[in-house]
Amino acid sequence: MAAEQTLAIIKPNAVKKNVIGKIIAMAEDIGLHMTAARMKTLSSDEAEGFYAEHRERPFFGSLSKFMTSGPVLLIVFEGDNAIEKWRKLMGATDPAKAAPGTIRKLYADSIEANSTHGSENKEAARREVGFFFLEEF
Ligand code: CMP
Repeated sequence: MAAEQTLAIIKPNAVKKNVIGKIIAMAEDIGLHMTAARMKTLSSDEAEGFYAEHRERPFFGSLSKFMTSGPVLLIVFEGDNAIEKWRKLMGATDPAKAAPGTIRKLYADSIEANSTHGSENKEAARREVGFFFLEEF
């Protein structure tokens, strides 16, 4: 199977916890390769544009505020089945439901400040990689 790309974000709460290295090591241990990365404090426009599909959700405003509250690490991971592998490693969106040993079980503070993001499927991955790494690929 051809290598797949996924867009991962280490969110402001996890950056503040100083666990970027630990999270990347977990990804490397399951065979994902980092092929692009950039540290950035998102603007409101970027956060709202990235999460546009959630615009009608009650948590949209709060989510955008949280995502702009400090630097994030934007990452492109590549590998066989990268989208599903990274999502499994992150665990459930709600940390209360995340399996032991997953990134969100270890480092999330709440369903909003849930430490990491990962593309949901191939179409989302293409859009999200393009959103932040248009020049690189
Ligand atoms: P993420 O995987 O980045 O995709 C959408 C984000 O919205 C999600 O992680 C959480 O950060 C946030 N989110 C999802 N559901 C809720 C909720 N019920 N309340 C607050 N934030 C949420």
